[in-house]
Amino acid sequence: MIEGEKRKLLVVAHRGSSGSAPENTMAAFRMAIDEGVDMIELDVRMTRDFELVVYHDADLRRTTNGSGFIWEKTLDELKHLDAGSWYSPKFADERIPTLREVIDLLPANINLNIEIKSDGDVRRGIAFEDACIRVIREKGFAHRVLVSSFDHKFLRRFHKLDPAIRIGALYLPVRDAAKKPSTLERRLGASAFICSRTQLRKRFIADAHQHDIMVACYVVNTVRQLERMIRFGVDAVVTDFPRRIVRALNER
Ligand code: G3P
Ligand code: MG
Repeated sequence: MIEGEKRKLLVVAHRGSSGSAPENTMAAFRMAIDEGVDMIELDVRMTRDFELVVYHDADLRRTTNGSGFIWEKTLDELKHLDAGSWYSPKFADERIPTLREVIDLLPANINLNIEIKSDGDVRRGIAFEDACIRVIREKGFAHRVLVSSFDHKFLRRFHKLDPAIRIGALYLPVRDAAKKPSTLERRLGASAFICSRTQLRKRFIADAHQHDIMVACYVVNTVRQLERMIRFGVDAVVTDFPRRIVRALNER
């Protein structure tokens, strides 16, 4: 568990409050903070000049007015893009945030799930891992982050570089179907297991809890889905609509 977390169902804002504001923007993160989440999930990619930015896709087209790939652009070039208008004109001032900017926004009671997106980026070596560890340490956030990824090679390298920072394995059925959460823990050092709602199985929970591994499930956007997750006994739900999920939990 991350310091300060009690054993309760954690509410994690998926890309911020991404059902009500443009995903992975400061507006979405501010909203999630106001809505009372325990943790914020965001996606991180590395720019051409090795800066860490908060952005989901490899390509800029879906959620900005730019085009091309993140790793082809410098931070300065990315900062000129509009990352909010695609969602609504009222968010036209939103820019692609840096990881540092989001960390600086977080109050002491809200932790961070940094999901590393390395797909498509052909640069190899440990530059990405290094950049990530540098920012986390600089901000004194080692005890407040969970670093997750579908890229288990990244996680393994990352864990070797800094075993004190918690990591979470994202489950990919084509690759991981035969593996238990505890196998991933042994291989990667992962203390959290993260899968989608439809991928969740009772045996995952049983194995994970036997080995003190946290189970998080995405995306849980309705009260009905939440109730199913509670019956399963998951530890964290990742949602695009934190207000709805926090309210439902408070009313229980
Ligand atoms: O961490 C869960 C989730 O964020 C993984 O999928 O595509 O939304 O980053 P995606
Ligand atoms: Mg993500």
